[in-house]
Amino acid sequence: MSSPENNFLSDCQQRIQPWLDDFLQQQNGLASHLSAAMRYAVLNGGKRVRPALAYASCLACGGTLADADSAAGAVELVHCYSLVHDDLPCMDDDDLRRGLPTCHKAFDEATALLAGDTLQALAFVALASSDLSSSQKTRQVQKLALASANMAVGQALDLAGEGQQLRVAELEQIHRHKTGALIKASVLMGAIAAGCTDTKTLTALETYASKLGLAFQVHDDVLDVIGDTQKLGKQAGADAELNKATYPALLGLSQAQQLATELHDQAIAAIKPLGCKANALVWLADFLVDRDH
Ligand code: IPE
Ligand code: IPE
Ligand code: MG
Ligand code: MG
Ligand code: MG
Repeated sequence: MSSPENNFLSDCQQRIQPWLDDFLQQQNGLASHLSAAMRYAVLNGGKRVRPALAYASCLACGGTLADADSAAGAVELVHCYSLVHDDLPCMDDDDLRRGLPTCHKAFDEATALLAGDTLQALAFVALASSDLSSSQKTRQVQKLALASANMAVGQALDLAGEGQQLRVAELEQIHRHKTGALIKASVLMGAIAAGCTDTKTLTALETYASKLGLAFQVHDDVLDVIGDTQKLGKQAGADAELNKATYPALLGLSQAQQLATELHDQAIAAIKPLGCKANALVWLADFLVDRDH
């Protein structure tokens, strides 16, 4: 299906795939089964939404795609780690991810746990090793480390929320942490890669990312209800099975869908002042609340 958003996303996918492959190949000295598990978790599919957001944000700030490679790669490494751990039996206990057996099913639990740990650490190696200035790298490391910590906080809240009747504000906190934080970091790290220090631009991007990050997880919850396991590449209906606190469970399906649309509109409004340089961010927002996987 050809559309600006699909073309941009597929260009980003094609750019980041060899980058991730090369980066993982350069990490010598890891036990071969651990390395195999990491490669399995990172290189087998994934929409590469976070890398695409980093690239789009870098372009919006006048940078090049090459400027954002390390940010794009690093954020995807943290994301892939988060998925491996999210699927573990002690968390969501899922068997299917990206259309394949989850990492702990294809390998074993200890290997999956350690592959996740290693991917997270290597994300920071990727940032620290880029050609950007020391101050850009420090700012990126700070953004990603904070997002990764917030992601773990969100995951802890998510697990504690199973079977609970939460208030909307509490559910929003979970989603902003477990998913929104990394989305926000992707956008801000892309801007930093372009050398952006303009407060107005950074604030606009932060608002965009904050709205879109929440919309992304609301839509993920919606897809768990209306999505198709084959297309999703992960088990539909898994949230209900675990009695997860989700937006459709709390608000009903159509209100959750409406909220995602409203957040999408607010995200796009926030970056309007950036003009056509931010087109790719608009395309990605369109894709993210309309996707079927
Ligand atoms: C799934 O993220 C986990 C969430 C944070 C909702 P994605 O939908 O981006 O998963 P992949 O990377 O495309 O597999
Ligand atoms: C995942 O949320 C959030 C993180 C991985 C940090 P979900 O548990 O809803 O993600 P899926 O639906 O398993 O991809
Ligand atoms: Mg989860
Ligand atoms: Mg899950
Ligand atoms: Mg989900």
